[in-house]
Amino acid sequence: MDRDIIPVGVKDFKIDLFEGQYSVPEGMAYNSYLIKDEKTAVMDTVERGFAGEWLANVESALGGAKPDYLIVQHMEPDHSGSIAAFAERWPEAVVVASAKAFAMMKAFYGDEYLERRLIVKEGDVLPLGKHVLRFIGAPMVHWPEVLMTLDEATGTLFSADAFGRFGADGDTDGEYVLDEARRYYFGIVGKYGTQVKAVLKKLEGAGVNTICPTHGNVIEDGLGDWLRLYTTWADYAPETDGVLIAYTSVYGNTRAAAELLAELLKERGCANVVLTDLARSDLSRAVADAFRFGKLALASTTYNNEVFPAMRRFISELTERNFQKRAVGIIENGSWAPQAAKVMKAMLEKSRDIVFAEPTVTVTSSLGDESRAQLAALADALCAG
Ligand code: FEO
Repeated sequence: MDRDIIPVGVKDFKIDLFEGQYSVPEGMAYNSYLIKDEKTAVMDTVERGFAGEWLANVESALGGAKPDYLIVQHMEPDHSGSIAAFAERWPEAVVVASAKAFAMMKAFYGDEYLERRLIVKEGDVLPLGKHVLRFIGAPMVHWPEVLMTLDEATGTLFSADAFGRFGADGDTDGEYVLDEARRYYFGIVGKYGTQVKAVLKKLEGAGVNTICPTHGNVIEDGLGDWLRLYTTWADYAPETDGVLIAYTSVYGNTRAAAELLAELLKERGCANVVLTDLARSDLSRAVADAFRFGKLALASTTYNNEVFPAMRRFISELTERNFQKRAVGIIENGSWAPQAAKVMKAMLEKSRDIVFAEPTVTVTSSLGDESRAQLAALADALCAG
């Protein structure tokens, strides 16, 4: 990263659920950066509980200077929560944001404390000296007011939430980083693939060589691979071959069917067979795996003449994120009036390019010869597809 750009963010290791729902066992980073030049700019603030630590970081990086600008790219409180603390500390600094962001600022925190402000929009340029900042509109990535900022002098993109990940661990590479980036992407902006694609299009040919997101690690190495991966995710295309088997089970019989399907798939040489109990696993990991792989098998008991609650929630989480372009196998269990298959298929009815793998498997209370044969046929179909 260019030596004029100094990270001044904070790490939150006390948080249990990010945005009130995502488990973050390795904490969460609220990133902020200082750009030192003839004029000095601070990129975003942090969650308000960390205002004191963040102000100290900014002050230390300033080395006795005063900031000229605070650039607010995104108004979600994990990044905007310390705007008032900043304005109180440095009232002469100009707060720079989109018109929509200023409206949200007023609604969230009032704005009587803002002495100096500058409204910017897509394409506007803010010269700092050597560094020249150009603003790039990124509506719905992940709120409507978002502006990303490209430092044209160094090819550094300040990307707001985009390209972020869960975890404040400091890792920059490896399977864990990829898993947490994927879980973050589909959890936070999975619904907005069209808008993510629009931003990726704007970045083509912009000379980006470093990405500074508001969460997770700075991306420099393998940046081309990350951009290709985000294009795949924004297209809702499978990232790799594999099958997620997601099940719910009351007395273990539906679980036995799901486990048998996993065995049968592995026997047939299927890659990446992942089994998850929806009632006991982190749903956001199951959602990320469903988007990661090209194939999904859903196994649920019938419950209240419906589908089991954890399965209903899982399918809703998928469909609200535009789940599409997948092969889906269905396994139902029912002791007297199986309904789960019908309900699960109906829930996916409006999803684009879903192909149901045949046959639909019906377990009557526990596995029998007929349901075992159906599972073998389903395994053949999923492996062949
Ligand atoms: Fe990290 Fe949309 O806030």
